[in-house]
Amino acid sequence: MSRCWLTGASSGIGAALAQRLLEQGHQVALGARQAERLAGLAEQFAGQVLLAVGDVDQPEQVARIAAQIEQAWGSLDLVILNAGTCEYLEPGQFDPALVERVMRTNLIGTSHCLAAALPLLRRSERPHLVVIGSSVSWLALPRAGAYGASKAALRYLVESLRLDLSRENIDVTLVSPGFVDTPLTRRNDFPMPQLWSAERAARHIVARLPRRPLEITFPATFTLLLRLLGALPARWRLKLGQRLARQPED
Ligand SMILES: NC(=O)c1ccc[n+]([C@@H]2O[C@H](COP(=O)([O-])OP(=O)(O)OC[C@H]3O[C@@H](n4cnc5c(N)ncnc54)[C@H](OP(=O)(O)O)[C@@H]3O)[C@@H](O)[C@H]2O)c1
Repeated sequence: MSRCWLTGASSGIGAALAQRLLEQGHQVALGARQAERLAGLAEQFAGQVLLAVGDVDQPEQVARIAAQIEQAWGSLDLVILNAGTCEYLEPGQFDPALVERVMRTNLIGTSHCLAAALPLLRRSERPHLVVIGSSVSWLALPRAGAYGASKAALRYLVESLRLDLSRENIDVTLVSPGFVDTPLTRRNDFPMPQLWSAERAARHIVARLPRRPLEITFPATFTLLLRLLGALPARWRLKLGQRLARQPED
């Protein structure tokens, strides 16, 4: 049994991860802004749950959550930084405020959580840090500039941090999902090949955590395809992106 902090536990992949970890008997600090959406799990698994309500964009709220965890448990064995958002850029309407919002939550918010979590992980005998990235970081897709940039930056941040943390024996896993059926993707108006349920995604992730792999990716064929396409020469990637891009009359 370990002590975990999971952000973005109120919905989608995070809610399914929370359910699975709690069923396995772990103690979980459930993070999200909307406390009322955590109440069901807190009631079902009373005694295992710590409510870690707050906005990852706000460093003082993240610090308060870390202080709350420290007071209750003193340390963390597992941290899963999953909270994230997605917005798409519309062609012809480049919007730096949109880019800022997405980067603020996915990259900077995750960084606030990292800063708060690392001192608590350092007190564990076998600390494990897990960050939810995205398979989009392998291939630039139309309209996904802000989201993809945030996840590509997160990949670099996590892979670099892993080098620094290896001296401290903190294992770091990056999770790169393909499409998962959640409130985030239900807004998408384009085809989502090989869409997994959130429960399937959570089962897949949780089953692999004990081995502490460097990366967890799924679905296998979709993510392999993205990686192969991402390795094509720039001109071929441009041609492919142009084919995928929405036409003005669509
Ligand atoms: N679904 C996919 O296909 C897919 C694919 C690749 C990667 N991902 C990544 O997986 C993660 C989870 O996504 P999802 O699809 O499960 O989305 P989701 O259903 O929209 O869940 C997002 C979670 O993050 C929390 N959150 C968002 N902004 C927050 C903030 N500023 N502060 C604190 N919590 C915040 C939300 O809770 P509150 O609103 O209550 O705060 C919610 O619990 C994200 O990092 C996403 O980028 C998803």
